[in-house]
Parts: sequence; structure tokens; C-alpha cells
Amino acid sequence: MNEFQRRAADLLTALGRAFSVLTLYGPEHPRRAEVEREVFRSLVHLKELESLPTLTFLDDEVVVNRRPQRELRGWRWAPRLSEVGIQRIEFPSTPNPEDLHLFLREASARLTRPPGSPAETEAQARELQPGVIGASIRFGRVGLGGHRLQENTMAPVVTATLDFSLDEELDATEWLQTEVRQGRDLPLAEAEAVVRSLAVAARGHQAALATLLRPGPSAAQPGPSAAQPGPSAAQPGAGAARPDPFASVHAMNTAVLAMALAEFLEMDSRAVRTVGIAGLLHDVGMARIPPELLARPGPLSPEEQCQVERHPVEGARLLLGSDEKLEVAAVVACEHHVRYDGAGYPRFRIPRPLHPVSHLVQLCATFDSLMSDRPWRGRWKEPDALAYLESGAGTEFHPEFAREFVRMIRLERAL
Ligand SMILES: [Fe+2]
Repeated sequence: MNEFQRRAADLLTALGRAFSVLTLYGPEHPRRAEVEREVFRSLVHLKELESLPTLTFLDDEVVVNRRPQRELRGWRWAPRLSEVGIQRIEFPSTPNPEDLHLFLREASARLTRPPGSPAETEAQARELQPGVIGASIRFGRVGLGGHRLQENTMAPVVTATLDFSLDEELDATEWLQTEVRQGRDLPLAEAEAVVRSLAVAARGHQAALATLLRPGPSAAQPGPSAAQPGPSAAQPGAGAARPDPFASVHAMNTAVLAMALAEFLEMDSRAVRTVGIAGLLHDVGMARIPPELLARPGPLSPEEQCQVERHPVEGARLLLGSDEKLEVAAVVACEHHVRYDGAGYPRFRIPRPLHPVSHLVQLCATFDSLMSDRPWRGRWKEPDALAYLESGAGTEFHPEFAREFVRMIRLERAL
């Protein structure tokens, strides 16, 4: 934990104490002023290091200036604040004790208001107009890339937006793959940190899709006649060079798409995270394939093809040997090239139903692969890629997941 993170943790501790006191004691109790002063001191201290400190709460996650804070995970106020519409707090200008007082009063009122009760009084609403507390504190629900979630009935609240570039997550993913390529254990903590960060992006499906599915240098191709899509991005041969930047982008895109779909299917937050890890690591076994094999142009020989087709099993072994928490990710790595109808690879001696997350990740990996420029073909147009998934529902892809994925993308595009 660096100094900024330490001071952010101090502020959150002070805020937690203040919420406890303000929700327990009446307006005249001296303890209230005491905890407000403590929050103010912590905020001033933090502002010395960062001009725009930003706290984001998503379920049990705490994100400080775009970086998920593992040490602060489980901070008990995070899910409660998120639930009452305070998913993000920004401190844009010089701290002001009066602004802070009004903010804490509003937050504690929300935290103690029974579900379904009326919003704040008119007097409170007037006080909360931007310009009263808006000068030094902004808070509200999180939106992504200008796509704001609908605010609840508490109209005066200023809605914050996140500005994601995901460059740091991409760097971390590339580093993670390099570690594996060089024979070291998978750095699970880094993978989890990337997924926590991507989970924030997945919450705003539309912006996440627009951000991650970057158009490649060539024009979109007309569709199914332009390529022979496989079940994931790992197309062997055809001149892909190592290190392949596509691998990291594809891993992240697959993770975000899979988490977005998991949320669309109303999976709980823990399951969504598991799906994200599996998506991020599904092709990790490719790092163990000799780079010269993938860099060489032209089709592969049958022996070389066999070697590439070992990457699911290689990936599963690698993940199982890294951490027992990666059990689902290992299963998905092993199964992500097995189709819904059992074709594909590896061939299991005793056929078995695939893990549901394998179906989900396979679908998302295929979509991202089709939507990406590759050395042997240009990217597909989105309607063609969606039509391909639809046509493969029940044969190549899990029928329900395929239908829901297509529906999710079309809904997002229609917004
Ligand atoms: Fe693969």
C-alpha cells in the first residue's frame, strides 16, 4: 500500500466511523462533530497528494481513483452506500467543512431511511443543489463513458462518470502473460486485480463494449465468407508474431464481455467475478506454445496443429498448479474449444457436459475474435458476427447463452 492508498484508507476509516455515529446518535450529540472533524482532517491529508480523490463503491469493492483496493475490500459501508445511490464520491476542490457536514448528513439519512420511504425533504433538497455542496463534493451513481445510469428520486445529486482507458489493466495483463511465458507461476493477485477493475467497466455494458472492442487498422470484412471462425481467438499459424498484443486485448475483452453477460443473466457478484477470471485466463495455455510456431506464416502441419491444440490442457495444468481458487478457470481453459455439440478439442475419453462458464466464455471469446483484425483476415461487421452466433446456437454454442448474448449486444446498441 503506497502513501496515497494509506491516506485513502484513513479517509474511509473516518467515513465509516462517521456513518456509524451519525446513524446512531441524535443531532445534538457531541460525538457527531468529533467524527466530522476526523473525516475533514483525513480528507485534507489526502488532498495534499491528489487533486481529485475519487472513491467508487460497487458491492463490496472499493475503487480509489480507478484502482481497486484489495486491502479495503469488504469495507462494510461499500455495499450499503452503493445500495442507496452513493456509488461514487469525488472531492474536486478545497475541502469545506460545511459541504462535508451536509454530505454526511445526506449520506446518513439515506443509510437509515427504510426502503421505499420518501426522498429527502425540500429543505434538504435545496441544500443539496450543486453549488452548495457541489463545490467540493460530488456524489451519485456511477455511469461509464457518458452513459449515465438513471438517477433515483433524489434529483439534486450530481451524477459522477468514470473515464476508463484501461491502459493500466492492459499493461498488467501483458505482464501476467509474460510471467507465464517465462515459466513462472501465474500471478493470481494481479489477475484478480485486473478482473476487479474490469468488473467496474462491465457494469456499464455499452461503454465497456465501445472501449474494448477497438477497431483494427483494416476495414470490416463482409462477413461469413471472409473467414473461417474458430471457437476462440487462438488461430494457429498465419503469421501472428510474439509477443502478440492481441492476446492481452482478447483476454480483457473476453473477460469484460463474459462479465457483462453474467450480469445480464443476473448471476450474483461472486459468480460474475469467477466468470471474469475464467475469461481473462481462458487462453493462458497459449503462452506455453513455442513462439516460432505462432510467428511462422502459412498453415501448420498436422503435428504442429496438434501442438497448438494442446493449449487448453496446458492452460488447465498451469492454472491448477497455481492456486486452488483457479479451479473453475482451469476447467474453462480446458473446455473453451469444445463445442456445445461435443465437437472441437480436446476430445475427452468419456464425454461430459461442459461447465456452464465454459459455454459462456467460449461464446464471448468467439465474438471478440470475430470482431478483431487478425493477420489472416479483417474483422467482421458486428451484425454478421451476431448472426454467426445465432446460427450456431444449439450446435457450436449453448443455445440460451447465445440468444441472451445477442440480445444483450443489440439492447446495448439500441440505447
Ligand atoms: Fe484458445
